[in-house]
Amino acid sequence: MPKPPPLSILPLSSVLRSLMVTSISSSPFLFPISLAITAKLAHSTNPVLNPDSNPILRFVLKHTFYRQFCAGENPKEVRQTIDGLKNLGFKGVILGYAREVVMEESAADELKSCGKDELAEACIRKEIIPWAKGSLETVKLASPGDFVALKFTGAGSQALYDLKQQAPSSPALKEAIDSICDLASARGIRLLFDAEQQAIQAGIDSWTLDYMRKYNGKTPGKAVVYGTYQAYLKATPSILASHLAVARKENLTLGVKLVRGAYLGSDPRHLIHDTKADTDNAYNGIAAALAKRAYGPPLQAEKGETTFPPVNVVLAGHNHTSVRKIQDLRTTQAQRGEEQTDLVYAQLQGMADEISCELVQAGKIDSAKSNVDIPKAYKYLVWGTSGECLKYLLRRANENKEAAQRTMEGRDAMARELVRRVKARFGLSS
Ligand SMILES: Cc1cc2nc3c(=O)[nH]c(=O)nc-3n(C[C@H](O)[C@H](O)[C@H](O)COP(=O)(O)OP(=O)(O)OC[C@H]3O[C@@H](n4cnc5c(N)ncnc54)[C@H](O)[C@@H]3O)c2cc1C
Ligand SMILES: *[C@@H]1O[C@H](CO)[C@@H](O)[C@H](O)[C@H]1NC(C)=O
Ligand SMILES: *[C@@H]1O[C@H](CO)[C@@H](O)[C@H](O)[C@H]1NC(C)=O
Repeated sequence: MPKPPPLSILPLSSVLRSLMVTSISSSPFLFPISLAITAKLAHSTNPVLNPDSNPILRFVLKHTFYRQFCAGENPKEVRQTIDGLKNLGFKGVILGYAREVVMEESAADELKSCGKDELAEACIRKEIIPWAKGSLETVKLASPGDFVALKFTGAGSQALYDLKQQAPSSPALKEAIDSICDLASARGIRLLFDAEQQAIQAGIDSWTLDYMRKYNGKTPGKAVVYGTYQAYLKATPSILASHLAVARKENLTLGVKLVRGAYLGSDPRHLIHDTKADTDNAYNGIAAALAKRAYGPPLQAEKGETTFPPVNVVLAGHNHTSVRKIQDLRTTQAQRGEEQTDLVYAQLQGMADEISCELVQAGKIDSAKSNVDIPKAYKYLVWGTSGECLKYLLRRANENKEAAQRTMEGRDAMARELVRRVKARFGLSS
């Protein structure tokens, strides 16, 4: 019997919704309009235009874009979304809290500390505490084996300031992050620290290493904390090599989430690979090195390093070719009975369902056989009030401006799936 098409595992309602949303997002006419409306809504202080206070607006958004890209507004909705995905065959989820701050390069330069006394108090009360509360709630919503994504800038101006100075986190913030990590570690939840803009990434890297030191040496071969490595940066192979050296010397398991990088439009251009092909090569090369636990271009060992430390990997991305390459490599490893890196695949909710569903399906079909690689597919979900999610959506939409081709592929895949179902319904399928 031929394999059923990957998208056949989705409920009809999500096929229809995805088709509508991707059709709008890939339309050169409708997309700029909806983007402008979204931007207006996201930054509006007018209660009529604010989805958190206008019920009609909220209803419309909730059943279209919000459902497509956000996991829910409260724990109950989020749990439903997670259960739905796990029932489809996803191994688990990566859960993130929508609150975030996106900084322009100019704003990054003017950044001030929260200051002292009353000002600092306000900062802790209005920014750090809500972020910590939301993040702890997120860790509680996840189940053992799931991941929680943490975006430090979500904690507001003090976090931005500390990171920009490459300083340790200020006491209130440190307390917040420590409590999130402790809860996650105790509950068997793994933490992914997101990579952000260049202006603060060195700071994030250094905090990440410190937390890896604290949590990733406890159980051999198991990482609790993962850093994110952006393959589009020319410096990434050497940064990753230096972290691998630290892990080897200090007996840690390095947690690596590999992405291409989301800040092409705002990060200094000269730090990023000159061409897309260079980024692709870097991503594929690093992924293969991690999967094989062997240094190889572009990942060169630091001087004196020979042994590759244990690594746990999240391969995050929507590029089919890159996913396939690693799947093939791991299948060969499985056939040869070689030891494999702990590696999972991740795509964002509402995007690249063709790839996610194909991985889910491969996981189901192959689990009956031995000596094959069983891919573990995860979806990255974000939750928060509709206002918070709207700002998150806006960022995704802006990113997608550059990925119109990808969106069109998604739209066409959904359209084909719909046609296939209609034909099958009327006995017309070949
Ligand atoms: C689960 C998940 C988690 C993520 N977490 C993060 C995160 O923490 N931090 C973060 O920054 N991003 C993150 N991203 C986004 C990611 O970095 C990419 O922007 C996104 O996945 C698109 O890249 P791709 O590999 O899927 O696909 P592709 O479409 O193959 O690649 C697009 C990417 O290629 C690169 N690129 C495009 N044009 C050029 C060019 N001319 N020169 C050089 N490079 C170019 C850019 O990085 C662009 O985003 C995440 C993505 C996923 C799926
Ligand atoms: C790492 O492990 C090795 C072997 O188990 C041990 O000899 C060494 O002292 C450890 N190093 C550190 C820094 O813990
Ligand atoms: C995906 O990556 C491959 C290289 O691995 C590249 O040739 C291809 O163009 C990429 N696809 C997209 C849509 O960017």
